[in-house]
Amino acid sequence: MDWGMKNRLSKIIRPETGRTVMLAVDHGYFLGPTTGLQEPGKTIAPLLPYADTLMLTRGVLRACVNPATDIPIVLRVSGGTSILGNLADEGTTVSMKDALRLNVAGIALSIFVGSELERKTLLALAELVNEGEEHGVPVLAVTAVGKEMARDARYLGLACRIAAELGAHYVKTYYCDDFEKVVKNCPVPVVIAGGKKIPEKDALKLSFDAVSHGAIGVDMGRNIFQSTHPVAMIRTVREIVHNNLPLKEAYDMFDTLSREKETVFA
Ligand code: 5RP
Repeated sequence: MDWGMKNRLSKIIRPETGRTVMLAVDHGYFLGPTTGLQEPGKTIAPLLPYADTLMLTRGVLRACVNPATDIPIVLRVSGGTSILGNLADEGTTVSMKDALRLNVAGIALSIFVGSELERKTLLALAELVNEGEEHGVPVLAVTAVGKEMARDARYLGLACRIAAELGAHYVKTYYCDDFEKVVKNCPVPVVIAGGKKIPEKDALKLSFDAVSHGAIGVDMGRNIFQSTHPVAMIRTVREIVHNNLPLKEAYDMFDTLSREKETVFA
């Protein structure tokens, strides 16, 4: 791995702990103005100090994030579909040239293993990895799940392993029973998505279980920005991910922080 690739990866995965808290705010690329992200800039600003990385699209990056920020960016470069259409029919939406111009730390795309369009999305991943290798830019493969796709260790393990085999530098998937098998069978680091909004304590447990079973962190969106207390949530998730904060202490931390005043944009 060359110096540029290692340097970018070290901006995403904190070298001190080998872990990462990615804040995912890319949802608008297929969901439009989803709850909590109607005005992305306002949602993102108070959370940035506690995120290691911001995952978002080119449009929201340019329009809503101060270019003077030092937060490393993982840019979503796949899209072209909406919640009303066939999500698996994504294409690559950003050139490597523009990603480099935006000074990103990494790029991300979704793969749809098991869909009728799996070949197209997997070849798009392989092509992005080729470009990433050429320019020293790590690629995050997001194992997307459709309504018809199971979220079990067998399916997610298949999707993660294929992403790694095609050269993804790290993989985002969902937590599931037997998650340690998914991690063990995937030769590159794994982060988890949070998924749909669930009660805060359940999302904290999800984060705790994921890192306890081998994830290197989270790439979490709705369970942070749709929380009644987004800052308290990301700060507590951060302690779990980087400092292995035990669950009981995490609940107490969230309760204490959630009594502090914070502005909510949900
Ligand atoms: C959508 C994504 C999102 O970034 C991902 O789902 C993480 O967000 P959340 O925690 O809300 O699930 O990649 O394809």
